[in-house]
Amino acid sequence: MENLIDIRDLSVDEIQELVRVALDIAADPSRYSEKCRGKKLATLFFEPSTRTRLSFEAAMYELGGNVLGFSEAQSSSASKGESVSDTARMVSCYADIIAMRHPKEGAPLVAASKASVPVINAGDGGHNHPTQTLTDLLTIWREKGRLSDLTIGLCGDLKFGRTVHSLVAAMSRYPGIRFILISPEELRVPGYIRKDVMTANGIPFEETTDFVSAMPQLDVLYMTRVQKERFFNEADYIRLKDMFILTPEKLAYAKEDLCIMHPLPRVNEIATAVDDDPRAAYFRQALNGKYIRMALIMKLLGVK
Ligand code: NCD
Repeated sequence: MENLIDIRDLSVDEIQELVRVALDIAADPSRYSEKCRGKKLATLFFEPSTRTRLSFEAAMYELGGNVLGFSEAQSSSASKGESVSDTARMVSCYADIIAMRHPKEGAPLVAASKASVPVINAGDGGHNHPTQTLTDLLTIWREKGRLSDLTIGLCGDLKFGRTVHSLVAAMSRYPGIRFILISPEELRVPGYIRKDVMTANGIPFEETTDFVSAMPQLDVLYMTRVQKERFFNEADYIRLKDMFILTPEKLAYAKEDLCIMHPLPRVNEIATAVDDDPRAAYFRQALNGKYIRMALIMKLLGVK
């Protein structure tokens, strides 16, 4: 049985195939409306979510399947002390596939070891978020027409931002990729991403606090929210949260064909005045999340 816990569980070829199917779905979703008839997706969300959970659910409905689940730990037996292992084993009796989000790093991996149906990691703590990365790859493909030969700026909370960790791991497998990592000193990418992912793959990268100097070099700019819920103290959050804000003034230094992304939710880090700029791809990105999750559910359920 196949799970998706880490983006590297998928080969580059498998990702290309998912992108191909997602593009086919986007072109004519009605052709897929019966693909998962009679199948059930369980969304087990122990942490808040809007896009990830709803796009998973919309994806399953559009495939003709059904959805069950919970959207907060409080309304599940976790609040009575049930373990993730036991929950996963139970839910395997009720659903054909599971999407799980959990505040603890590694929880979906534990669930996958006990579940008898495929488990998808829908975000585990400050660690990984592989389906957001599939969404991001589909978006880069649609906006830029390629996944290679790109200078990618990642800006904001690169320490706790799980979407960043999965995206760097995924993009480090394509040729001609270079990263510019823009963050406060305290929120730099974790050492293992620098060493085991970028350096190990020979990926050039630089770390900077100079947003404006980075701007003209970028093909893709990936903005992120400072992850308030992972901070140990409020004062640090308040000090760091507004250090990098994308405004039309800063965009004046950017390429004409820059692709601006954000996994959302946005707090302050992109001024709303940027939303009408044709380079702002973040709402298109959210739509792509539904198509690629449709493709992923079909793959893991073995539906052709
Ligand atoms: C992200 C997440 O949950 O990690 N959101 C999402 O899934 N689209 C990013 C975030 O919460 O900042």
